Amino acid sequence: MSSHTQWYKLAESVNEIEFNNNGLAEVEVNGKNITLALHNGKVFACPQKCPHAGGTLAAGYIDATGNIVCPVHRYKFNLINGYNTSGEGYHLKTYKVDVREDGLFITLL
Ligand code: FES
Repeated sequence: MSSHTQWYKLAESVNEIEFNNNGLAEVEVNGKNITLALHNGKVFACPQKCPHAGGTLAAGYIDATGNIVCPVHRYKFNLINGYNTSGEGYHLKTYKVDVREDGLFITLL
């Protein structure tokens, strides 16, 4: 395995991403469906589906403290580290997003 981190370009800028009214969007990156979340001007990324029972996270919402809330059973996950803040013991994978002068990038590690 290479130690080189592969970054994928999502857009030229954050403004190019079509977030819904809840600040959520779904994009495909290298064949993977990803949820993007805009909270306090920062972009976060996690898988398309909830680790509990596969709810579509982009159909949920972001609460005031920066948790993504799954629309199916309302489990909450911290967007920074994927911690299941509502306490059911699941973990949401998160991906690094980087805003650079030449665009918005994500790594899928
Ligand atoms: S499927 Fe997301 S909380 Fe159950």
